[in-house]
Amino acid sequence: MKDKLNIVIVGGGSTWCPGILKSLTKHQDIFPLNRVIMFDTDAERQAVIGEFGKILFREEAPEVEFDYTTDKDVAYEDVDFVLCQIRTGGYDMRSKDEKIPLHMGLIGQETVGAGGMAYGIRSMTDMIEIVKDVRAHSPKAWIINYTNPAALVAYGLQKAFPKEDHILNICDQPVNLLRSYGRLLGRDSSEFEPVYFGLNHFGWFTHLYDKDGVDLVPTIKKFVKENGFKPVDAEQRDQSWLDTYAMVADMLQDFPDYLPNTYLQYYLYPKYKLAHLDPDYTRSDEVINGREKRVFAECRRVAEVGTAKDSSVVQNDAHGDMIVEVSSAIYRNTRQTFIVMVKNDGIVKDFPDDAMVEVAASVGVNGPQPYAVGEIGTFYHGLMVNQYSYERLAIEAYFEHSYEKALQALTLNRLVNDAKDARAILDKLIEANKDYWPELS
Ligand code: G6P
Ligand code: MN
Repeated sequence: MKDKLNIVIVGGGSTWCPGILKSLTKHQDIFPLNRVIMFDTDAERQAVIGEFGKILFREEAPEVEFDYTTDKDVAYEDVDFVLCQIRTGGYDMRSKDEKIPLHMGLIGQETVGAGGMAYGIRSMTDMIEIVKDVRAHSPKAWIINYTNPAALVAYGLQKAFPKEDHILNICDQPVNLLRSYGRLLGRDSSEFEPVYFGLNHFGWFTHLYDKDGVDLVPTIKKFVKENGFKPVDAEQRDQSWLDTYAMVADMLQDFPDYLPNTYLQYYLYPKYKLAHLDPDYTRSDEVINGREKRVFAECRRVAEVGTAKDSSVVQNDAHGDMIVEVSSAIYRNTRQTFIVMVKNDGIVKDFPDDAMVEVAASVGVNGPQPYAVGEIGTFYHGLMVNQYSYERLAIEAYFEHSYEKALQALTLNRLVNDAKDARAILDKLIEANKDYWPELS
C-alpha cells in the first residue's frame, strides 16, 4: 500500500466525528495520512464539524490535506479507507424509532426491537448507494462500516454485495466493554485477548485472557456481581448508559456463564426496561439535549477562538481509536485481534452459514480471519437463531418489498412477539418511514 493514505469519513456531520478526527491526528505513527475528507449530505451540520476539523488538522497535523464536501465525486476519488457511519433520517427518525414502539408498550431502541428494524430498513438504500459510489471511484478502498443497526446493515450488505471482500463491519460496544473491564481490574485492556460470540449487540465474552494466559472472566464476574459495573468513561456518560451498564450485574445473576453485551438487557428484561423508560423522553432526547448540543457548541467555539488546543469536544475516544486501530491493522497487516462481524460459514456450530456473526478475528491486509467458536449452549443458540431469523426476514422484507416478511420479522422479534402487535406497529412504522422505506406489499 501507499506511504500515506487518503481517507474519507462518510457521515461528517456526526457527533462522533470530532473524536474520529482527533484519533486520526494522533495515530499517524500507525496510520499515516495524506488526505482526510469528510462527506455528508447535510451540508449545514457537516460544516460545523468541518470547521473544527480544519483547525484541529492545522494545529495537530498541518502536513495532512483536510477538507469537507457534499460532492461524492470529490469525496470518493482515489481513497484508501472509507470510514462510514451514517444516520439515515437523523435524530428525528431515531426519536420515532424509540417512541412509536414505547407508546404501544413495546421496547423501541436505536438498534433493538421494532425501532431497530425501522432504522435497519431505512439505512439499506443509502448504504447500498455508498458502496456503489465508492466502488465507482475507488475499487479497492477498504470500507470500515459501523453504521447502525450494524447487525441488519452488515447482513444486508453481504446480500447486496456477496463478492465484496473489502468491507469490514465493526461495532465499538465490545471495545467499550473491554476498556470497562480494564478499568475495573486496573489493567490495560489492549493486552486482553478476548473470546466472544454472538450477533451484533447480541453477544457474550466467554473468555478474556491476559498476557500470561490467565482467564480474567471469573474475576470480572465476581467483581461485577459484588460491586456493579460502570463504563470506562462513566464520568462522561448520561444516566441511561449508567443504568445500562448496571444491568450487567442482573444478567450475571441470572445467566452466569458468560459476560453479556449490554444490549442483551432489552431482550432479557423487556418488562423491567419498559417500566423504566419514558415514552416521551427517550435516549434521542438525551442525546439531542446533551452530546449533540455540547459537540456542536464546542465546535463553534473552537472555530471562533481559532484553536482546538484546549478543546473538550472529544468525549469517548474508544470509538475513534477503534476505527483508526482496526484500519491500521489492515494497512500494516498487524493481525491484531478485534471483535468484528463476519459471515458465519461454520464459525458457530449448527448456525446458518450466511449469518453475520460477531466474533474475535485476527485482522490484517486480507481483512478479518475469524477464530472458530464451535458449539454453543442451547440457551444461547436458541436466542441467536431467533434473532438471526428476525434479522434475515427484515432484510428480505427490504429487498423483496414484502409486507409479509416484515410482519414475520416483527412477530419473531423477542421485543414484539405478538402478531397483532406486530401488525399494528408495522403499519405505524410504514407511515413514519414513508420517505425512506421501499413500499411494502
Ligand atoms: C454504542 C453502540 C453503538 C451505538 C451507541 C449509541 O457505542 O455500540 O452502536 O450507536 O452506543 O450511543 P448513544 O450515546 O447515541 O445512545
Ligand atoms: Mn454498536
